[in-house]
Amino acid sequence: MSTTTTPSGKKLLVTAALPYANGDIHIGHLSGVYLPADIYVRFKRLRGTNVRFICGSDDYGVAIMLRATAEGKTPAEVAHAYHASHKADFDGLGINFDIYGSTSQNPHHIGTSQEIFKKIFSKGYFEKQSSRQFYDDSKQMFLPDRFVKGTCGYCAAADQHGDQCENCGKMLDVDTVQNPRSVVSGNPASVRETFHWFLDLSRFEGAVSKWLETAEVRDTSRRYVQGLLSTGFIKRSMTRDIDWGVPVPIDDVDAKSKVLYVWFDAPIGYISNTQQLCAERGEGVEHYTDWWKSEDCDILHFIGEDNTIFHCVIWIAMLSSEGSYKLPRGVVINQFLNVQFPGREVEKISKSRGTALWMKDYVASGENPDTLRYYLTMIAPERARSTFKPDDMLQRHNSELANVLGNFVHRIVSFTHKYVGPHVPDYLEEKVSDTDKAFVALLEKAFHDTTEQLEGYNFRAALEVLMEFARSCNRYVDEKAPWTTRKTDMETTKVTLATALKAIHFFTIVLTPFMPFTTAKMAATLNLDLAKLCWDDALRAQPAGSTLKEPQILFAKIETSIWLNAAI
Ligand code: 2FM
Ligand code: ZN
Repeated sequence: MSTTTTPSGKKLLVTAALPYANGDIHIGHLSGVYLPADIYVRFKRLRGTNVRFICGSDDYGVAIMLRATAEGKTPAEVAHAYHASHKADFDGLGINFDIYGSTSQNPHHIGTSQEIFKKIFSKGYFEKQSSRQFYDDSKQMFLPDRFVKGTCGYCAAADQHGDQCENCGKMLDVDTVQNPRSVVSGNPASVRETFHWFLDLSRFEGAVSKWLETAEVRDTSRRYVQGLLSTGFIKRSMTRDIDWGVPVPIDDVDAKSKVLYVWFDAPIGYISNTQQLCAERGEGVEHYTDWWKSEDCDILHFIGEDNTIFHCVIWIAMLSSEGSYKLPRGVVINQFLNVQFPGREVEKISKSRGTALWMKDYVASGENPDTLRYYLTMIAPERARSTFKPDDMLQRHNSELANVLGNFVHRIVSFTHKYVGPHVPDYLEEKVSDTDKAFVALLEKAFHDTTEQLEGYNFRAALEVLMEFARSCNRYVDEKAPWTTRKTDMETTKVTLATALKAIHFFTIVLTPFMPFTTAKMAATLNLDLAKLCWDDALRAQPAGSTLKEPQILFAKIETSIWLNAAI
């Protein structure tokens, strides 16, 4: 075994957007954020990088309060229940965070959020201002964020939340929501004055612009942020008139009974959950600075497109004004995923329209988690929105995973067992032909291309490279026809089998980031301890004589799948 590191050798902190604890995880979440983040972390670990992978539930704010009202529970009860259900979903799909924490249950979260708010306050970046907010006269309460619904004043999309338009992504407020109504009572919302603490984002246009020059973000996202910069940033209130959140930590009578805006405390959840992880590992909470304030560590956020403003503008402004944290090296952003059921149009993923496909249902169905991981990666919305089609997933499971990859592995291992014995065959060097050499060259090229694509966050392209190589594997075996040569030339047959086994060894390592359940089975067949292997070991073959176990069926053919008729 050898050990490698990333070119820079730095540590890496990877975060995945903290999902709101007001609903379950669906395929859009998995494809947009959690799966690519997990693939990247597994890849970097195999390359020898010291990585910490942070996530947790986003528990505070209006969205959780609304769900609590709907379920007749307290916000804390709702947050706890969804937190547990998220965790089970992620476990079932092999999304291996180092910590799946939370904001409301984390003992460090309130203190760290308040400390950051106070530091920004002490540096004079907050402006206390009387502001106009939506109000529900019948319930006598302010209506921040999702407590209001109305028509987007920018794109005219109806039925949008009061804080952000799902259609055009713009942030909304009292001046940009038309026909506002209270979600609590259903009545038209009025407008009242209240004090809030505003961060003037226009003061950070230079900081965001400078960060964007070197930040690793995809072109689509870069253009989006450049577009925001070109129209100019505005002041945003960082406090709210609700009681479920982090109390505003300043000595001011107008700050009483107010909490921090959930989008102020949520990204701080990345920090507080790193603190929690350091505590759980017995290193001491204060060691979170090794990850957040060290030149020796890079920070990378994985998010969905609707979170772009918050991570690429507000979070950069928060960190720049606070001053002691590192800015992220990059933000990897996927676009939305749509769905299309057989015989229907392409539709948005929507809970109310029944087009949200839930992870808990897939996990409970007992279907192969790697089929979903594979398909979602192959259609990943990395540059543009893409479409999940349940019938396409089934078809690709059978035609690609079962017929191409599974079949190659199974036939080589079975054939070796039958004609050579349960071990990797030794062979005579002079029997190696140009065909064998060309095949090994293809393997090496696949390795370099996959590595390059993964380093560039092109997960879909990386997996396409590997599947194209899997097709080459079957072509190689067909050309070498060991079932024929074994009758007349066992030495040539051994070369073919040893070379094909080298490819299976290769796949066992390089497919691990994408399909960890499958490669665990492959490793068992090859008698490999995956934990002891590194990325570059994929180029090596197992020594002749290494024991092979009987092959397992990697991908049984399937005739139906849980979501085929889901929305019909
Ligand atoms: O969009 C969401 O689900 C948010 N809860 C994401 C928060 S990401 C981070 F800032 F915590
Ligand atoms: Zn809009």
